[in-house]
Amino acid sequence: MSTTNLAVIPGDGIGPEVTAEALKVLEVASPVKFEQTRYDLGAERYLATGEVLPESVLAEIKEQDAILLGAVGGKPNDPNLPPGILERGLLLKLRFELDHYVNLRPSRLFPGATSPLAAAVLDKGEIDFVVVREGTEGLYTGNGGAMRVGTPHEVATETSVNTAYGVERVVRDAFARAQARPRKKLTLVHKTNVLVNAGSLWWRITQQVAEEFPDVTVDYLHIDAVMIFLATDPSRFDVIVTDNIFGDIITDLAAAITGGIGLAASGNINSSREFPSMFEPVHGSAPDIAGQQKADPTAAILSGALLLEHLGHPEAAAAIDAAVLADLAERGSEPRTTSEVGDAIAARVTS
Ligand code: NAD
Ligand code: IPM
Ligand code: MN
Repeated sequence: MSTTNLAVIPGDGIGPEVTAEALKVLEVASPVKFEQTRYDLGAERYLATGEVLPESVLAEIKEQDAILLGAVGGKPNDPNLPPGILERGLLLKLRFELDHYVNLRPSRLFPGATSPLAAAVLDKGEIDFVVVREGTEGLYTGNGGAMRVGTPHEVATETSVNTAYGVERVVRDAFARAQARPRKKLTLVHKTNVLVNAGSLWWRITQQVAEEFPDVTVDYLHIDAVMIFLATDPSRFDVIVTDNIFGDIITDLAAAITGGIGLAASGNINSSREFPSMFEPVHGSAPDIAGQQKADPTAAILSGALLLEHLGHPEAAAAIDAAVLADLAERGSEPRTTSEVGDAIAARVTS
């Protein structure tokens, strides 16, 4: 049995609770043995030591085969923890330093999962799409600044950075994913009617790359219209490609319509495989339910399936998906603890 080096960053709030369950399921599903290294990064370490992500730790993580992350972020309005410190200094730093340019977020309404959407909408067709969110550019680069802070003349700017190189590589990745799916449809999402500079770049590159994928149907929607269709007919989507902030917003709504944020998995993927990819639930540290064994670990468990798929173990990934599907189909109204859900899914993988 070969060994795979796995960095585990449980993080804050419900992060450690859901990560424990993802590891439980990975252990039974994986054909390879994981050599785990745990990194105690997050709010606790920052508050105790002032450290967010020391360079030596980052260098070690870069040498791993993959990363499993829970969630980062402290309690809201903690005076000792200004907003953004952990989000920018830890989570986004990892995504940027490890060049996670494909932020992959599948959205599928599994049978048994409940959705707030009316039956009439669900009747239009199956909800099964994937958002390819650009992960290293856009509004997330920290380009901007503030002047005359605290005065009536304060000016605050955040500049969206979009490079031809960065857009082309994520668009090409999304086309390849669309080509591999039965419907072969790609929807570019932007706001080209207002954000004309970045919009034009995304539009032109999509048209150019489309020539390499003649069998993929290309559609375009403005971000605001996407909100309409996600609520009225999400079955129209197959692969969505979009920038960093639009992808962030779309995927929380997508999670809500496919059974809730507790089910939404993601992979931060370095498709060129120069650096380890990182797998994490879409949700955050949920301080409101942390430490109570109330969190649904399914998103973290499904993120483990994406990890196995990325590492070249599609059958093991499919076994986790099937176990989750079976568990969802039989979920009743009885509340279960986080670890009870993990146990039930792990048991289904082995049976
Ligand atoms: P959140 O996702 O943590 O919580 C939003 C709501 O969803 C809360 O009511 C929470 O209880 C619920 N929820 C989340 N995950 C759940 C689960 N697995 N099971 C059941 N319910 C769940 O978003 P937020 O409240 O906006 O952010 C809290 C903190 O997390 C902030 O510090 C934020 O920056 C951070 N955050 C981190 C990540 C990440 O690490 N990838 C993602 C989003 C937010
Ligand atoms: C997510 C989160 C992060 C993001 C934050 C916490 C930086 O919301 O993973 O979706 O905006 O990407
Ligand atoms: Mn988000």
